[in-house]
Amino acid sequence: MRSDKVKIAVFVSGGGTNLQALIDAQRAGRLPSGEIALVVSSNPRAYAIDRAVDAGIPAVTVCRKEVGEQFEGELIRVLEKHGIEMIVLAGFMSILSADFISRYPQRIINIHPSLIPSFCGKGMYGLHVHEAALAYGVKVSGATVHYVNEIPDGGKIILQKAVRVRQDDTPESLQKRIMKQAEWNILPRATQLVAKKLLKERKGEQSL
Ligand code: GAR
Repeated sequence: MRSDKVKIAVFVSGGGTNLQALIDAQRAGRLPSGEIALVVSSNPRAYAIDRAVDAGIPAVTVCRKEVGEQFEGELIRVLEKHGIEMIVLAGFMSILSADFISRYPQRIINIHPSLIPSFCGKGMYGLHVHEAALAYGVKVSGATVHYVNEIPDGGKIILQKAVRVRQDDTPESLQKRIMKQAEWNILPRATQLVAKKLLKERKGEQSL
């Protein structure tokens, strides 16, 4: 029988603090409509894998360098094996093709460390985003959770949170504050919102 929660895969590439925020939210009962059923890392050395293992969540590595053109085929294979219905990109540093994305319509979300449409799109990831925000001189930055479509960082916005930029900020200090004050807060909330919506759709289908 199908679980009464939406099965979620979290895609990671690095430290995994956003994955940790999701795990903590699940433990605290703040993700009632979803279940983190799988962690997929594009990087075999990502600390995020240790976080998954510590939480007892199955973790697999699918590395583009190792599998080459088979990358997305391999992703689809593991997702199907684990019955995944929703994907959360949490610091996933690999761009997914339109073909892959079209397999999960309105079922892939991403966290981006700026207020979209500022400082987003190709080449804007990790510290680069905060370097660009400081170079521009914005007084407010923040984070955005959005649906993933074929345009990098171009899908519909789900949640945003603003964070004040300080005069003495470095890219590192701004990154840290945006994570603490915005990302770790809005990613679990957006994940729950989308999982709840998917669960509702699933129930609607069952009653047809
Ligand atoms: C986070 O700041 C996330 O917003 C960013 O990478 C970091 C991952 O940290 N994502 C992007 O820049 C995507 N364009 P984490 O591994 O500790 O969650």
